[in-house]
Amino acid sequence: MFSAALFCQILLATAAFAIPSSKDSLAARIARRNAGLTHQSHPNQLVESPFPAEVTEVDAATNGTTAKVSYSGNWAGAVLSAKNATYKTVTGTFVVPHPKEPSGATGRHSAAAWVGIDGASCGKAILQTGLDITVNGSDVNYYAWYEWFPAPWTDFTGITFKAGDTVIVSVTATSKTSGKATVTNKSTGKSVSHTFTGQPDLCEEDAEWIVEDFSSGGKLVPFADFGKVEFTDATVTTLAGKTVGPAGATLVDLVHNKTVLTKASTGARSVTVSYVG
Ligand SMILES: *[C@@H]1O[C@H](CO)[C@@H](O)[C@H](O)[C@H]1NC(C)=O
Ligand SMILES: *[C@@H]1O[C@H](CO)[C@@H](O)[C@H](O)[C@H]1NC(C)=O
Ligand SMILES: *[C@@H]1O[C@H](CO)[C@@H](O)[C@H](O)[C@H]1NC(C)=O
Ligand SMILES: *[C@@H]1O[C@H](CO)[C@@H](O)[C@H](O)[C@H]1NC(C)=O
Ligand SMILES: *[C@@H]1O[C@H](CO)[C@@H](O)[C@H](O)[C@H]1NC(C)=O
Repeated sequence: MFSAALFCQILLATAAFAIPSSKDSLAARIARRNAGLTHQSHPNQLVESPFPAEVTEVDAATNGTTAKVSYSGNWAGAVLSAKNATYKTVTGTFVVPHPKEPSGATGRHSAAAWVGIDGASCGKAILQTGLDITVNGSDVNYYAWYEWFPAPWTDFTGITFKAGDTVIVSVTATSKTSGKATVTNKSTGKSVSHTFTGQPDLCEEDAEWIVEDFSSGGKLVPFADFGKVEFTDATVTTLAGKTVGPAGATLVDLVHNKTVLTKASTGARSVTVSYVG
């Protein structure tokens, strides 16, 4: 299928790549940001609940049943888990937030918002894509990236974002060892994607919508007050071809030093993660 709109997008994408100065400056900004360090999203690192009793939340996605809440040192969001290979495509749309330094803190703080497959109940590999969000005083930056854990992430060089843009993130496992990551500026329709082949085996048993405290140079980055990330059109398509929302997902809240920093909730087709630290 070849539409006029698609043709326009290709022309626009070609035009964007034809302007070396804008591409160089993004590549240069990425190099400065990375400062020789690898950036990496990791599997969910569960931590003990800071509460004496099990916590449950009303799961709006399942019409009033309860969702289990778990606690993590690096993830916040919602995870759907199956007992065998089940998930093929995970998608979500969110408005790029304007992060702040947490109250009482200054300097560089970050978070990453992404969708992915595996890394919760099955942690050998993760297929994922998203944006990292960084604040340092008045300086705010966003970069789009893709990762197939255990490799670190790679920045996309063809797309930039600013607060208020609407971004669509999506991963598809075309097999246990291959797949595709796509990031789209919904407002312009401009997208970048990466195709993976010959990667470590996925289980295809977890589908997730996450805000993470990721690692830079092997250490957790100081976690930003990211405000709120609301994944709308949060869907997962199964290997059997059925598309569902996050109903039945386990909620995950991020805990540092026994302090709960996030609050996650789900709706029929949404996952909302708010900073509450
Ligand atoms: C949700 O619950 C209400 C009240 O029990 C019921 O009337 C409605 O049919 C339910 N909807 C779904 C989708 O299960
Ligand atoms: C996978 O597990 C689900 C339940 O979690 C079950 O319904 C389904 O039949 C299983 N599929 C296979 C291929 O074992
Ligand atoms: C954060 O901003 C301050 C002030 O502009 C600067 O000195 C510092 O190097 C920045 N930190 C990082 C990690 O970029
Ligand atoms: C994304 O698209 C919107 C709408 O066209 C545009 O305003 C915005 O600048 C785009 N984002 C970037 C960083 O180019
Ligand atoms: C926990 O507290 C210790 C001591 O104050 C601090 O060094 C460490 O960075 C904190 N850990 C996190 C993940 O915030």
